[in-house]
Amino acid sequence: MKIFVTGASGYVGFAVACALRRAGHEVYGMVRRKEAETLLRRAEIHPVTATMQNPAAAQATVEQCAVLIHAAADYQTDTMKTDRQMVAVLLATARRSLQHKTVIYTSGVWVHGDTGGELVDETTVLHPAQLVKDRPEIERLVLESPGIRGLVVRPGCVYGGRGGLTGAWFSGAESGEVNIVGNGDNRWAMVHVEDLADAYLQLAESGLKGEVFDITDRSRATVNEMAAAAVIAAGGKAKFKHLPLAEAQQGMGDFAACLALDQHVDARKAVRLLGWQPKHGGFVDGAETYYQAWKAWK
Ligand SMILES: NC(=O)c1ccc[n+]([C@@H]2O[C@H](COP(=O)([O-])OP(=O)(O)OC[C@H]3O[C@@H](n4cnc5c(N)ncnc54)[C@H](OP(=O)(O)O)[C@@H]3O)[C@@H](O)[C@H]2O)c1
Repeated sequence: MKIFVTGASGYVGFAVACALRRAGHEVYGMVRRKEAETLLRRAEIHPVTATMQNPAAAQATVEQCAVLIHAAADYQTDTMKTDRQMVAVLLATARRSLQHKTVIYTSGVWVHGDTGGELVDETTVLHPAQLVKDRPEIERLVLESPGIRGLVVRPGCVYGGRGGLTGAWFSGAESGEVNIVGNGDNRWAMVHVEDLADAYLQLAESGLKGEVFDITDRSRATVNEMAAAAVIAAGGKAKFKHLPLAEAQQGMGDFAACLALDQHVDARKAVRLLGWQPKHGGFVDGAETYYQAWKAWK
């Protein structure tokens, strides 16, 4: 299939584009920087240069592709507004097409809010964190859009490779101080980047529509345990600094509350409907490997 991926140079988008290419698909990745074009070409992904603010240059490619995957995120602008605009462009193009296109939207488990110890899944009423309060509505636009196959992926906190949020523990470990928002006894729902990419591949090929998938592994380490594993992997000398949420919010805004979430998110729907299985056992299990990978990507 011809598949279009936004954010193809990004942490999630690049892994997804590579997984699709490995499976033999013809992959077109939207990028906005020259260096990113080379990154994509090396992985046999066709770069399409455009931005979410000005996606017109990608329009002809989008029209040709059977699957449209949105994995771009612009943290320099109003992230959710840009997200919604890009989704609207993809949906409008998909609706106009004679081809029955699949549109896959990347949301995230933060739409579940703080779940405490309770296991939540795709049937649970959402209580989104303030930072992502607009995401449930964007999810609905995708799921309920007529004439297309709309799907939503909600990744847990992604680890492995470039590192994502776990990279902050490694850089803190190297600089001597790891900052943790709250007391660190909270658990994040996690997923390895390659397991996540596999889920997108299986979804792209599934023919399903109107479905949401929480994509997480089964690890249940606390943030303190994961950060401690990161520090040991990086040489074991750094101190931990626990920031009260109110203090962290002054510097980080609504992002701080997301880092303090305690979450337990079930991914068995993906296991049942897609046959998806996470092959990585959690961040703590492979922290040394993930540290080396993070350093190599830096
Ligand atoms: N990482 C996680 O742990 C995680 C967990 C759950 C959900 N998610 C969701 O996954 C999505 C992707 O996150 P990520 O971690 O992959 O982020 P990322 O590594 O920062 O990647 C963002 C991508 O979007 C591109 N981009 C940014 N602004 C753009 C613009 N104006 N026009 C076109 N492209 C633009 C970036 O291009 P450049 O390379 O040029 O910057 C990059 O390719 C987000 O919606 C995020 O909420 C991520």
